[in-house]
Amino acid sequence: MTERTATLTIEGKPPIELPIYEGTLGQDVIDIGTLGGHDVFTFDPGFSATASCRSDITYIDGEKGILLHRGYPIEVLAEKSDYLETCYLLFEGRLPTAAQKTDFENTIRYHTMVNRSMEHFISGFRYDAHPMAMLCGLVGAMSSFYHDALDITDQQHRTISAHRLIAKMPTMAAMCHKHFIGQPYVYPDNTLSYSANFLRMMFATPCEEYVAHPSITKAMDRIFLLHADHEQNASTSTVRLAGSSGANPFACVAAGIAALWGPAHGGANEAVLSMLNEIGDESNILEYIKKAKDKDDPFRLMGFGHRVYKSHDPRATVMRESCNEVLAVLGLENDPLFRLAKKLEQIALEDDYFIAKKLYPNVDFYSGIILKALGIPEEMFTVIFATGRTVGWISHWNEMISNPYRIGRPRQLYTGADTRDFPPIEERT
Ligand code: SDX
Repeated sequence: MTERTATLTIEGKPPIELPIYEGTLGQDVIDIGTLGGHDVFTFDPGFSATASCRSDITYIDGEKGILLHRGYPIEVLAEKSDYLETCYLLFEGRLPTAAQKTDFENTIRYHTMVNRSMEHFISGFRYDAHPMAMLCGLVGAMSSFYHDALDITDQQHRTISAHRLIAKMPTMAAMCHKHFIGQPYVYPDNTLSYSANFLRMMFATPCEEYVAHPSITKAMDRIFLLHADHEQNASTSTVRLAGSSGANPFACVAAGIAALWGPAHGGANEAVLSMLNEIGDESNILEYIKKAKDKDDPFRLMGFGHRVYKSHDPRATVMRESCNEVLAVLGLENDPLFRLAKKLEQIALEDDYFIAKKLYPNVDFYSGIILKALGIPEEMFTVIFATGRTVGWISHWNEMISNPYRIGRPRQLYTGADTRDFPPIEERT
């Protein structure tokens, strides 16, 4: 097939032919890699129209509200799969057979413990350190514990590091929570499923056992699944950029955790609950909608809007259904926060500003309400997001390292001072 090209015409320069590549789905891309040779760069600070890589893992159609993981719609995975099976799908590229699924579950189960020294490490944090600060430190420190498999050119090393991260994130997440509330750590129980194990490590104490209601465990598993991966979002792009320098996978995932923490990204679920608590009552909703529309007011409706989704976030739809189910099981159908969130969503979706700017609820809008209903404290919401997203981060890292890659090194539009003389200090003003 003849190569398609785009022609870039710049005054005073001969036309520049740039190759066009087509993917399986979605937008074509124009390869601008040779533009530097023509003494010109492209400019796209928020990467709104920039493809940073080729990837087979996740596809998003923002106009149609489609999210596919290795070709499987998120709605189908949420209904028919579970988190660990989705982890296998994302990392290996295909759904496991029954034997492969059992083997993978056992592998993850027998990596859930962390080195005992991690307890000494986390004890160095202040009693009230934010759990995301602790998680970032713990994951970065993993490279000091698990350095027996850090040859990133060896697929077996990459796979064992991925398994260790997937397996140990719930254990470390629960340790952050226990440190925050001043309770002893609860060790993993290998007789339990991934999500039941996490809930037990979060809520059991040496004095009292904790057995999660099956619906609660299912909801927790679905929350991990809905957060598993999302193409080249800010934190995943951070992991890829860190990985492009050859950094070890634990350092790369720690960088991803740091990027996720921001309220514009994974910190939004915690910010949604703060916002709902601040709004307080349905009678205040219109005032806050007005603030969200006011250009001079920094307030934004947290949990609304998305760089890619301009119709609806399919995860928010599933999350909303889960929210209804969990609240019904817990007898919280009249939960004031949930009622307030549904009223806020209804008013926002009917508001011309939000319609014009295509601002719809995203994955974070309802997740905070479910997490709160499950008894997860607000400061742990983004830790839950990071725990679920770890498989996405490490799958993208593995995909990049498994193929030819170069260090990521963007350029800039320089707007600073031209060359100038160095003034002696007595002449400076
Ligand atoms: C996640 O990328 C991913 O895939 C992320 C994620 C994943 O799974 O990894 O999906 C997870 O991060 C979801 C997003 C969670 N963040 C929030 O809910 C925070 C609130 N949302 C916004 O901050 C914002 O919508 C972003 C950050 C999500 C998207 O920002 P963009 O794409 O840069 O859009 P923008 O800031 O340029 O906004 C476009 C316009 C602006 O108005 P104008 O300057 O054009 O007049 O819409 C307005 C914005 O002011 N706007 C909002 C708004 N979000 C955008 N106005 C009020 N409330 C909002 N929430």
